[in-house]
Amino acid sequence: APRHFLDIRDLDAADLRAIIEDAKAMKAARAGLPKGAPDPAPALPGRALAMIFEKPSTRTRVSFDIGMRQLGGSALILSAQEMQLGRGESIADTGRVLSRYVDAIMMRTNAHASLVELAQNSSVPVINGLTDDSHPCQILADVMTFEERRGPIGGKRLTWTGDGNNVATSFIEAATLFGFELVLACPEPLSPSPRALDFAAKAGAKVRVERDAEAAVAGADAVIADTWFSMGDEPAARESRHNQLAPYQVTARLMEGAAKNAIFLHCLPAHRGEEATAEVMDGPQSAIFDEAENRLHVQKAILKWCLAV
Ligand code: CP
Ligand code: NVA
Repeated sequence: APRHFLDIRDLDAADLRAIIEDAKAMKAARAGLPKGAPDPAPALPGRALAMIFEKPSTRTRVSFDIGMRQLGGSALILSAQEMQLGRGESIADTGRVLSRYVDAIMMRTNAHASLVELAQNSSVPVINGLTDDSHPCQILADVMTFEERRGPIGGKRLTWTGDGNNVATSFIEAATLFGFELVLACPEPLSPSPRALDFAAKAGAKVRVERDAEAAVAGADAVIADTWFSMGDEPAARESRHNQLAPYQVTARLMEGAAKNAIFLHCLPAHRGEEATAEVMDGPQSAIFDEAENRLHVQKAILKWCLAV
């Protein structure tokens, strides 16, 4: 069976750690090379990746595309709307057909069930490039970024503020597998996925939900924010969300309650003045552009893991 990368909880801790270490090593090995140049020892020569997008993307599409080139392979960017998928061809047949042309498929989709259906019908590995439920590639890049700045993540305390969304779910799973403490400060109606919290609780992970942002941030080694309004969220909810989430905005004052050398993380795109102030996003504690860069390195390691190279 192909090795899919659908969610962090599907992998074991040793494989996740190996992916992070491989990403760090590949990043170091490329120091000084032009970005379009192949790796010193390209790991995936001749391999092809197809990417299907049901929603917009900047980082995911560019980092996977350039990543495949650096690995010696190639990538195709497909918009679901421009494929027969957009006029009713089934996900199952799409998976069967693409499996005849390419060595791996990445999909960014609305319903998580579509990703699972694609994986069930593909004979090549399928990678989750974000669904309404989760965003595992992002969180591995976040773990890598944290460790570059603050050392091993095990035992550290990270605080999530805002909407308990898809990115939060993957963070909860990562806390469980990497052994860090995660405090999520969310308003009650935007609490994280009960299923993710249950997964963490059953594994004995240190994951808890707080209502008060200041209490949640106390002593944190990293403070994390994401958009208040995710792709696919109901447009009519925009105003009520702003009211619910305003107390969770990451400000310089909120950061003062975190550990002295705490970092600020955000998967991007950013909305300065909403989930965090410009002062925090662009300030000395912010690691947001390293985080974006690390998508590239970590996804190359994920591709290698999927293809058992
Ligand atoms: N963080 C992230 O996944 O960005 P894109 O939506 O630009 O891919
Ligand atoms: N939670 C955001 C993440 C974007 C990368 C969304 O789903 O739109």
